[in-house]
Amino acid sequence: MKSVVVLGVTGSVAAYRACDVARELMRNGFEVRACLSRSAAEFVTPALFEALTGKPVLTDVFDEPVKGRMAHIDWARDARVLLVCPATANAIAVLASGASEDMFTTIAQASRAPMIMAPAMNPDMYSSIPNQENLAKLRDRGAVVVEPLEGEVACGEQGQGKLASVGAIVAAVLEAGYRSNLMAGRRIVITAGPTRELIDPVRFISNRSSGKMGYELARAALQMGASVALISGPVALTAPAGAELVRVTSAQEMKDAVLTAIQNADLLIGAAAVADYRAVAVAPEKIKKSGDMQLRLIENPDILSESHRARPELPIVGFAAETTDHERGAKDKIDKKGLFAIAMNDVSRRDIGFDANENELVLYFADGEVTLIQKSSKFNVAVAMLERIATRLSW
Ligand code: CTP
Repeated sequence: MKSVVVLGVTGSVAAYRACDVARELMRNGFEVRACLSRSAAEFVTPALFEALTGKPVLTDVFDEPVKGRMAHIDWARDARVLLVCPATANAIAVLASGASEDMFTTIAQASRAPMIMAPAMNPDMYSSIPNQENLAKLRDRGAVVVEPLEGEVACGEQGQGKLASVGAIVAAVLEAGYRSNLMAGRRIVITAGPTRELIDPVRFISNRSSGKMGYELARAALQMGASVALISGPVALTAPAGAELVRVTSAQEMKDAVLTAIQNADLLIGAAAVADYRAVAVAPEKIKKSGDMQLRLIENPDILSESHRARPELPIVGFAAETTDHERGAKDKIDKKGLFAIAMNDVSRRDIGFDANENELVLYFADGEVTLIQKSSKFNVAVAMLERIATRLSW
């Protein structure tokens, strides 16, 4: 069954943007059930959300899409996340007070699911003391507030009040929706990004890895309660809060950091695209142009193989970026590097893998199990991959 987001749309001009949020949540694998307040229905229609989500839309406390079943209780129980988007000052006040004045606030009273609020309103309303006190109350109870942005709001005034970006709202839902204890008490070491092998002080050998898959694995493992050491080559990403970030540049530095980090680890995942070769010698000064030149390269240590040698009992999951003979290439690496499993990416496809936001993987286990992890956002793929690995490790 898909994870359900109950989306409460309240009466702000930004109500139309809840459509994009709903679509993006569905793209990320959620089932979205919308609930419109009476004032929201003045801006957008229930029919619009019904068509978008393919699910009944609730607007009134007595709505009963399944005859004889109390929708507010069913939806409250089914919700993995409650999202209020956009959230008006009034909706925030009602939710903070614990009252229920319409269908969504009734569901919220009955639900134990985490709540995400995405406020959108006039900047003076947003910064007003009662509104800020109400938000603080909700935060104290565990709600996450996706702060509105600075800019020009619908009434023409400037300030903080514009609904946050679709990406920021969806990211908050994903984080809340996948919180679990599956990896509680486990220490996971994850490598991410490319490595850089210097040729001279200004030039290096590297590759196209963006680091996104490794960072999403770190984020997902943290959501599942693990402690995470993220050993990252040079990337333009922000590490997820709570990860112990070790920045490295070259393959040799990455190897040293990994061998230290795995000493007390329960799992190592090698998502980094480690450069296979480095220059035999790094020129101390910038190399001047003087006709054709030859660069002598030497093979880098294989980080996963060395980790396996150092701790043969440690489960290690590698990645295989293949363009041809995918299955064979992936399985060979399991044997060669002493892996528990390997995640195979078909890097000849443009829609997934390198630098893309989505991925699709085939997970080959050393004992022959093959699991397809369907195309989705890299975060979703990370969650599915970790869930399968944790199950196979009997965690
Ligand atoms: N890897 C590593 N150390 C290296 C090279 C790769 O730990 N020096 C890890 C990667 O992090 C990845 C896996 O090994 O998890 C597969 O890397 P890949 O480059 O695809 O495989 P190679 O062993 O380099 O084989 P080839 O390039 O010949 O396909």
